[in-house]
Amino acid sequence: MIILGIESTCDETGATVVENGRKVLSNIVSSSVKLHNKYKGIVPEIAAREQVRVIIPVVNEALAKAFGSIRSNNSYKFGCHIDAIAVSYGPGLIGSLLVGVETAKTLALIWKKPLIPVNHLIGHVYANWLTVNSSQLTEKNREPLTMNHEPMFPAVALIVSGGHTDLLLMTDHMKFKWLGGTLDDAAGEAFDKVARILGLGYPGGPKVERIARQWTMDNGQWTIKLPRPMIDSNNFDFSFSGLKTAVANLVHSSQFTVHSREEIAYEFQKAIADVLVTKTINAAKRFNVREILLGGGVAANSVLRQQLTDHCRGLNIPVKFPPVDLCIDNGAMIAAAAFFNRKIQSPQKLQADTSLYFAPTKI
Ligand code: KG4
Ligand code: ZN
Repeated sequence: MIILGIESTCDETGATVVENGRKVLSNIVSSSVKLHNKYKGIVPEIAAREQVRVIIPVVNEALAKAFGSIRSNNSYKFGCHIDAIAVSYGPGLIGSLLVGVETAKTLALIWKKPLIPVNHLIGHVYANWLTVNSSQLTEKNREPLTMNHEPMFPAVALIVSGGHTDLLLMTDHMKFKWLGGTLDDAAGEAFDKVARILGLGYPGGPKVERIARQWTMDNGQWTIKLPRPMIDSNNFDFSFSGLKTAVANLVHSSQFTVHSREEIAYEFQKAIADVLVTKTINAAKRFNVREILLGGGVAANSVLRQQLTDHCRGLNIPVKFPPVDLCIDNGAMIAAAAFFNRKIQSPQKLQADTSLYFAPTKI
């Protein structure tokens, strides 16, 4: 079954062709991140206007790469190779969501193909089912993947993105129980805000990671101690706004001259990883799971990936995370989630849903 996955919930516009929920045939992502840089955060109107401009070329390119010549500028003829269209319909920014959802609805009607709506957050979990051949990956991605097997159930999934931090228990395909989540800032949001405090620009995660690595390489003496919020709480909730405030207080205090930005970035990143890893492992032990899955933009963070892998090795629980390209928003994860949950919706009925979320009841 060949699914075209369309993703446009925030600043990325993605279109991907995926076979049987696993094999990525093409993966095109266009990001408007540079346009937002001078505003130090996403401007929803700018993101949506850019998505209106690029969505058709992105879909065209994904189809052309999967089925034909890259030079082809009329990829609509490739519609006959698609069995279904999947689209993330929330949560996200309303203007951005509308671009993807309306495009997917239109293509489904023109091509007479089934339309499968996907929760963007569930999509991040399903990035772990994708297999890619290394020529489809950018240089930074050619790291060895942790495990090459398909995820096993029951699993604990940690979704860490710019807008969400959630721990889920996954007992089967599309069977999720929400264990807990952030009470305030999401992990990615904390990275973005700390990057802004440190004058690093947007998006914050990769920038904080880059200067933190500088500190490690310098082998400096590490003297700052930031809080690890809620690390010992007997639940699966998180809180990162106090950690961000602790960084702001440090930067605005006289101590800032003593500590470099690199050192602060290093300790901040370590604090986030410590909390995420501790809670995820607690959940894995409590529910006796056979797999730990990581997903979302922050899952691209190498310290988080390494720390989780190291801790789980001792416990004998395999950890899976997608290659970096597939942690950041993309259409492939949407197509994969759709394959394992073929809940078809009529194009006339599908609506973008900005506040789509997991069931509020905890396990
Ligand atoms: O999943 P995503 O692409 O979009 C949302 O659904 O929000 O995640 C974007 C978030 C941003 O907050 C970005 O700073 C963070 O992921 N991020 C990272 C890294 N790469 C992206 N955070 C930490 N380390 C990274 N390497
Ligand atoms: Zn996302």
